[in-house]
Amino acid sequence: MDIKKLVKPNIRTLRAYQAEETPCKVKLDANESPYGFTVLKSIKTNRYPDPEAKDLRKIAAKEFKVKPTNILHGNGSDELIYYLITTFGGPVLYPVPTFSMYGIISHVLGVKNIEISLDNEFDLYVDRILKIIKKENPKLTFLSSPNNPTGNCFSSDKILKIIKQSKCLVVIDEAYQPFSEKKSFLTLLKKHKNLVILRTLSKIGLAGLRVGFMIANADIINEANKVRLPFNLNSLSQKVAIDALQDKKQMQKYISSIISERKKLIHDMEKMDGIEPYPSDANFILFKIHSVRNRVSNGAKDAEKIHKNLLKRGVLVRNMKGIIDGCLRVTVGTPRENTIFLKNLKQLL
Ligand SMILES: Cc1ncc(COP(=O)(O)O)c(C=O)c1O
Repeated sequence: MDIKKLVKPNIRTLRAYQAEETPCKVKLDANESPYGFTVLKSIKTNRYPDPEAKDLRKIAAKEFKVKPTNILHGNGSDELIYYLITTFGGPVLYPVPTFSMYGIISHVLGVKNIEISLDNEFDLYVDRILKIIKKENPKLTFLSSPNNPTGNCFSSDKILKIIKQSKCLVVIDEAYQPFSEKKSFLTLLKKHKNLVILRTLSKIGLAGLRVGFMIANADIINEANKVRLPFNLNSLSQKVAIDALQDKKQMQKYISSIISERKKLIHDMEKMDGIEPYPSDANFILFKIHSVRNRVSNGAKDAEKIHKNLLKRGVLVRNMKGIIDGCLRVTVGTPRENTIFLKNLKQLL
């Protein structure tokens, strides 16, 4: 597959921005201040960050078992979605409901988007998708797996079929993969040149830092790197992300706690009358509200009411109105937060 042919013509001829990085004693070339503050030992606030995030990409490469040249760093994976659509253009195809940014960024960049609904199990209509890919020839297909907001992973064999049978880039957004028992697609990168994986540190305790990674064949990384803003990832984020990735024990402890709390939450929610939690491979649970009062299908109104009343009691969950009517989405919190949520939900039901 010739990746260059997929790239928008104006990007194809572009060269990635190269920041001057000549080592020297007196650095007076970049209009920086010579005076800095000590935020963290070893962080110089007066200097621009490493534009290539070399140390961070090195440690991320180790984590994902790829080479640093297979990684592009982003100010969150949102930014990397933006870079992908900027670089390759559209049409952009994705199943719905899913993460809203695929549609929003396509729209912002004036690129056509194609939405295909999920089946009743929130899985992919694979044949329908392949048919539309053939007809519409999208440049990018986004698959969030585990999917936000439904929480499930799509069937691996269906994803694989799409990767194998389409000529576009297939982006598997694995933002929630650390919470899933299903296998990551990272190991298939060598075999499938049109595969792109997105990962983020946001869901595993570092959302405030805004650090995301695109992992793909170096040809794809090099093209997307051309549209990356030179200093997109600040020094503080780079440093803290490196430390966090080195302290994997602590990170794993948090992930395990979320997984075990998710199991407890689902177990307790399943016992409640009037709601139906869906299985989850992520750090959140989607649940449906059934109208139990007079057995009339009035779930949408009830969902809104419960959302509002939970908020009155200080508990904020996501109202999925307009996306999956009649459903709410709750993020797995600390054991204490989860207990408060369950207690209030039970009382309201
Ligand atoms: C599927 C999915 N991808 C990406 C993101 C964005 O992640 P980041 O914080 O790295 O921009 C989210 C955030 O909610 C998400 O749900």
